[in-house]
Amino acid sequence: MKSIRYIAADILLNVVDNGRSLSHELPAALAELDPEQHAFLQQLVYGSVRYYFALDELINQLVEDPLRDKERLLHMVLAIGIYQLWQLQVAEYAAINETVAVTVEADRQWATGLVNGTLRRFQRERGAMLADLRRAEAMPGWLNKRLRQAWPEQYHQICADSNQLGPMTLRVNQRHGTRDAWLAQANEQGFEAHACAHSEVGVTLAAPAPVLALPGFSAGAVSVQDEAAQLCAQLLNVTDGERVLDACAAPGGKTGHLLESASIQLTALDVDPKRLDRVAENLERLQLSAQLTAADAGDVSSWWDGEPFDAILVDAPCSGTGVIRRHPDIKLLRKNTDIKALGLVQKNLLTQLWGTLKPGGRLLYATCSILPDENSQQISAFLAAHADAALVELPLTGDVPTPTGVQWLPQAGGHDGFFYALLHKAR
Ligand SMILES: C[S@@+](CC[C@H](N)C(=O)[O-])C[C@H]1O[C@@H](n2cnc3c(N)ncnc32)[C@H](O)[C@@H]1O
Repeated sequence: MKSIRYIAADILLNVVDNGRSLSHELPAALAELDPEQHAFLQQLVYGSVRYYFALDELINQLVEDPLRDKERLLHMVLAIGIYQLWQLQVAEYAAINETVAVTVEADRQWATGLVNGTLRRFQRERGAMLADLRRAEAMPGWLNKRLRQAWPEQYHQICADSNQLGPMTLRVNQRHGTRDAWLAQANEQGFEAHACAHSEVGVTLAAPAPVLALPGFSAGAVSVQDEAAQLCAQLLNVTDGERVLDACAAPGGKTGHLLESASIQLTALDVDPKRLDRVAENLERLQLSAQLTAADAGDVSSWWDGEPFDAILVDAPCSGTGVIRRHPDIKLLRKNTDIKALGLVQKNLLTQLWGTLKPGGRLLYATCSILPDENSQQISAFLAAHADAALVELPLTGDVPTPTGVQWLPQAGGHDGFFYALLHKAR
């Protein structure tokens, strides 16, 4: 059985060098461990991914002879070690000894002195080193450039807030009862929680809790969903009897919310059949149903029966730059070239799906991105090319001014970064 620190270093290696995502790597590793070991592995992995650029810079300063390319696991062992000394409340002797032990576990006995010496040097010199650190909050170079250009005044705050853990926010299922009733029940059971400011059904917990401990979770009374994501169904505002399309549905957070909001005829599409299984699982817990279809929403002839929709949600695939605090591996996995490629997919989805909307109908375009290319610029270009499309004013204030739509930035203790634009189709 491998030690937790070894497993963490190995996962970090897979994310940084092999382009694997945490959502792929972590569940498999957790499944092999006792539940009481989960929190420490999650802390080590999320933390070292979140601070990877800073850890990398510290390692480069601390290790005089750079490690050879084939010793990348050792590099990750050092990253895990420094992260513990820097950010975690772990006894320092244990952090050092146990991290040195990983060197032996990895058959790198020759490097025990190097790892021990490096961590002890960090322990002695960290005050000055951390004061000089340039990249503690930073994003990869390409994203720094884009964010500084888009939001020069907010840039530092965005970086700082993207490094904070996001709060645990829930959506109360209005088919089960009111938000106030759920809050009262939660309070009685010892959970501290408050109503969200913008979502009518949102509740933020003062501290994260295991979902199964939450009142009514198994029966579908609440779902975990950030407040910004909850705004999608609220803004689309579906009513009983409407024919609705959720074009990019998986894993089904907004599908469930749409179905909780009114008795609608919902078609939920996703191009990824495996992810669509997660929509089915989520709807089963909520005891709600929709027509689930695995298809490319942009290839309309492959899935559409020709009956137009009253309302469409396009929760488009995007860079995820508004949710880096929840998925820090985005900083390591996304590339600059992805933005252009995603832009083409977004444009195609908007253009093709517009043809499936009824005259007089509405389409909500949303992303969890904070890059204008994927958001306001995308919508401005769409409006310029479609005379029958008009932008509807939303009852929301953006965190930054934009020519079209509403842009939210990630807020410490509050919502994720998100973008919304509601389009109306002329009759
Ligand atoms: C932002 S996620 C959707 C999240 C989802 N709406 C929710 O609330 O849980 C974007 C989804 O779009 C899907 N997707 C990407 N390209 C697509 C396409 N051409 N047609 C349909 N779905 C697509 C991805 O598989 C991914 O599940």
